[in-house]
Amino acid sequence: MRRVKRSSPTSPAAAAAAAAALLVAFSALAGLCDAGKTSTFVRKDEKAVDMPLDSDVFRVPPGYNAPQQVHITQGDHDGSAIIVSWVTPDEPGSSLVLYGTSENHLTFSAEGRVHQYKYYNYTSGYIHHCNIRNLKYDTKYYYAVGVGHTLRKFWFTTPPKVGPDVPYTFGLIGDLGQSFDSNRTLTHYESNPIKGQTVLFVGDLSYADNYMYHDNVRWDTWGRFTERSAAYQPWIWTAGNHEIDFAPEIGEGVPFKPYKNRYHVPYKASGSTAPFWYSIKRASAYIIVLASYSAYGKYTPQYKWLEAELPKVNRTETPWLIVLMHSPWYNSYNYHYMEGETMRVIYESWFVKYKVDVVFAGHVHAYERSERISNIAYNIVNGQCNPVPDQSAPVYITIGDGGNQEGLAKNMTEPQPKYSAFREASFGHAIFDVKNRTHAYYSWHRNQDGYSVEADTLLFYNRFWHPLEESSASV
Ligand SMILES: *[C@@H]1O[C@H](CO)[C@@H](O)[C@H](O)[C@H]1NC(C)=O
Ligand SMILES: *[C@@H]1O[C@H](CO)[C@@H](O)[C@H](O)[C@H]1NC(C)=O
Ligand SMILES: *[C@@H]1O[C@H](CO)[C@@H](O)[C@H](O)[C@H]1NC(C)=O
Ligand SMILES: *[C@@H]1O[C@H](CO)[C@@H](O)[C@H](O)[C@H]1NC(C)=O
Ligand SMILES: *[C@@H]1O[C@H](CO)[C@@H](O)[C@H](O)[C@H]1NC(C)=O
Ligand SMILES: [Fe+2]
Repeated sequence: MRRVKRSSPTSPAAAAAAAAALLVAFSALAGLCDAGKTSTFVRKDEKAVDMPLDSDVFRVPPGYNAPQQVHITQGDHDGSAIIVSWVTPDEPGSSLVLYGTSENHLTFSAEGRVHQYKYYNYTSGYIHHCNIRNLKYDTKYYYAVGVGHTLRKFWFTTPPKVGPDVPYTFGLIGDLGQSFDSNRTLTHYESNPIKGQTVLFVGDLSYADNYMYHDNVRWDTWGRFTERSAAYQPWIWTAGNHEIDFAPEIGEGVPFKPYKNRYHVPYKASGSTAPFWYSIKRASAYIIVLASYSAYGKYTPQYKWLEAELPKVNRTETPWLIVLMHSPWYNSYNYHYMEGETMRVIYESWFVKYKVDVVFAGHVHAYERSERISNIAYNIVNGQCNPVPDQSAPVYITIGDGGNQEGLAKNMTEPQPKYSAFREASFGHAIFDVKNRTHAYYSWHRNQDGYSVEADTLLFYNRFWHPLEESSASV
């Protein structure tokens, strides 16, 4: 049973929030508040500790060769296909997925593929990927994996057909890891009354690379931990630095080996040549995933792909243009400071030209939301090197606060830059709730609060259909 906690007026979280709100009101009156807000929310200073191997969330499902680490993601460009992935531990077993719209009549089947990989002295289980195509839109499907040994059943709902006014709700999670705090973040996401339908994951999954020899057992535990959400709704993957797993000292010189073997994405459907950058359409959104750790300079495959990709986005079909990446371009914490700068310099003018609505990034283990700003006027000699308000520019959101064992990034640059609208070092997740072609309701939820509490919100106005200035609210 899940106990739904609500923040009462007397809870410490609510009291801190109320105090913060008062402080903002006061500083606004005193005219001190035009440079954005650093939250005064006070949290206990506790270290993020990884859950031990025998934790409930890592439990191996019972039954011989039972499928584990089940997860799904979009399988094509438009949302009528889904990739189902899972691992069988003892033998290859079957790569068949049975599925259907009635729980007890899985009348269809699709055949996937199975493979293993080795990493130093670790050998993976049998990893299956199966792309189920030509699904009906907006339909609940049941599916089963583990044919022949131990059948396990799950379900998912396909998105509505792509269209400009289709409401759809995305969850935002980044830098999750597998600490007790990661579990809190996932629980808060699942229990949020605004039900997310698909997770946009901004990179840094398992943090297995923080273990000796990049102990890939921690990739398996992460897969079992996240199954409770990722088997039922697609998680859209972005590669972070913790996916690189580049370790030539132990003979592992090919980057992204575990990630690439375990997390398949539909990159070919968007004409990409590598699984680290790609795009999907889902409901009323066009989502572009970029790779902070693959070459992105001029003439590189990613550059050429993005250059050709942006003009393809038809805002009459998909009004909302969302970009995911790992390393943020705008970040006012003293962690990973300016690491996103080289990519920003190369691509930012395109984002302004094509009116990207919002950019979500992770990497910095904290939360931050920017104003709509750009920094594209600079040309080396003109001295115009400051970010300026720009209503054609995206809002930049850092949501690297999933709760991994590295802990919170608390050290911020002072004073807070004008372009930074709100920042707070707390673990949490966010929701981007598209209402129609003009409006999307965004909210950030910190783990210390009750499930329904919104710590930072912004009613987004679409940059193509309704490009007015927004006003935000934070508590
Ligand atoms: C891999 O090698 C390390 C170091 O030698 C050792 O501690 C570990 O038990 C080995 N793991 C396996 C699966 O053999
Ligand atoms: C993780 O969270 C779930 C859901 O809240 C809970 O049932 C489980 O006991 C937690 N596990 C750990 C190790 O914290
Ligand atoms: C954009 O999408 C709309 C709606 O689907 C369609 O009518 C129109 O032809 C598309 N425009 C282009 C240039 O493809
Ligand atoms: C915060 O970061 C700055 C810049 O890196 C550093 O000089 C300072 O010592 C840090 N402060 C703390 C408390 O760690
Ligand atoms: C779009 O959604 C917003 C927010 O829910 C609402 O105020 C507005 O009336 C909607 N527009 C249309 C055309 O329905
Ligand atoms: Fe990172």
